Amino acid sequence: MSVRKDWRNKGIGRVLLETLLQWAENHPRIEKVFLEVFVTNEWAIHLYRQMGFVTEGRRVKQVQLHDGEYVDDLIMARFTNKEK
Ligand SMILES: CC(C)(COP(=O)(O)OP(=O)(O)OC[C@H]1O[C@@H](n2cnc3c(N)ncnc32)[C@H](O)[C@@H]1OP(=O)(O)O)[C@@H](O)C(=O)NCCC(=O)NCCS
Repeated sequence: MSVRKDWRNKGIGRVLLETLLQWAENHPRIEKVFLEVFVTNEWAIHLYRQMGFVTEGRRVKQVQLHDGEYVDDLIMARFTNKEK
């Protein structure tokens, strides 16, 4: 997800994520939601942790950036209340 630059840090990302998770909780079959995020993206990781996402893994040098540098990413997940 991405919020337009001048609208960031105003609670929109949180509302988007809350809406998604509410939809997932009410869906009859969805048991787990997962996402991928660059390890360098501290703000996003902060928000995901607050929303109950837990790190399940780290993929080393998963993405090569325009400048040739590599970045790791994290896999984060949260179970819905239908988890068996
Ligand atoms: C990550 C992103 C979606 C978050 O959306 P947002 O609307 O800015 O987030 P919110 O305003 O709901 O903030 C949620 C939390 O993050 C913190 N946060 C968000 N932007 C921040 C900033 N620029 N500096 C410090 N903290 C920040 C808020 O303080 C809040 O935490 P708190 O409740 O402890 O205060 C948004 O920053 C974005 O679009 N980033 C670029 C794209 C991106 O990285 N997407 C994620 C890819 S995995």
